[in-house]
Amino acid sequence: MRRSHPRAVILGTGSELPAKVVTNAALEKLVDTSDEWITTRTGIKERRVLEEGKGNADMAYRASLRALKDAGLEAKDLEAIIMGTVTPDYPFPSSACVLEDMLGARKAFSFDVNAACCGFLNALAIADSFIRTGMIRTALVVGSDALSRLLNWKDRGTCILFGDGSGAVVLGASHDGAHGILSTRLRTDGSYVKALYVPAGGSLKPASLESVKRNEHTIAMNGKEVFKVAVRSMEEISREALDEAEVKVDEVSLVIPHQANLRIITALAGRLKVPMSKVMVNLDRYGNTSAASVPVALDEARREGRIRRGDIILLNAFGAGFAWGAAVIRF
Ligand code: UT7
Repeated sequence: MRRSHPRAVILGTGSELPAKVVTNAALEKLVDTSDEWITTRTGIKERRVLEEGKGNADMAYRASLRALKDAGLEAKDLEAIIMGTVTPDYPFPSSACVLEDMLGARKAFSFDVNAACCGFLNALAIADSFIRTGMIRTALVVGSDALSRLLNWKDRGTCILFGDGSGAVVLGASHDGAHGILSTRLRTDGSYVKALYVPAGGSLKPASLESVKRNEHTIAMNGKEVFKVAVRSMEEISREALDEAEVKVDEVSLVIPHQANLRIITALAGRLKVPMSKVMVNLDRYGNTSAASVPVALDEARREGRIRRGDIILLNAFGAGFAWGAAVIRF
């Protein structure tokens, strides 16, 4: 018989970054930009790009195998696969279904979550809820995107920012009461839909020769608007998640923020009064990998020995929608 109210604990993490590196110097050849501009305005030095002929699920598969190995579980043990992404392999069905087949996770039900850069946090919150209700005992939560597929390589305002990658977390149910996901908070403001979006390719404006000619299948963004709302919103939601978890900001040993822009991260750390030594940063190497950003950074932090048992970490993310969220976890 199952006891009531288990908590979701992280059993393992994994990540995958495509091999192809695109440096700022390489972008200087495509658009009117410079390594100096990109570095000082964003902190990004290089990003990874998924090779042609591969899809998002190919990256997610490798990240998931690593997470399963780390957790000491097999794909057949999984009861759910939830994948945050805005770049699925097909318009439908979900990339989570493609991943389920690749893994041979026959017992799992699988679906994608579209919350842009916040997709991993939404997927984590859903899986956490399923585990806490007792509906499932294990879940694979993935954040994975290939935004290179949605970039206009002639738009210097966007093509310098994004990269491809995939991060995965295996969750299990625990009754010890001490460890696991302590809180998750999510929010959206749909009045900002057009501040960061892909104008065509959906039901409103299906693909046509005209839409392709007008570059409407690539990311259109008002960077300044995103920047402003991102800092304020991630601070607010981080405080809410900490309050709900009854954790003081001083008790957090590591903040793992969405890796969009180093200036956003330092502004956020300043507002939260967290020293940068307690903030995970890897955007210099990967840029903004959308839904993959937080789980990739989480996996790297663990592998670098920056997270020990008992540590409390704060995750937060912000992206198109606008959609944002935060989670507090005790390892
Ligand atoms: O997950 C959420 C995803 N999105 C984001 O996080 C984006 C958040 N926003 C940002 O990171 C920043 O707004 C950007 C990095 C996109 C832009 O930085 P900024 O400091 O807001 O620059 P700006 O847009 O105000 O542009 C300043 C100048 C402009 O030139 P003028 O008008 O001053 O002559 C731009 O045309 O920099 C120019 N510029 C560039 N110059 C060289 C814009 N992009 C580039 C570029 N290289 N790549």
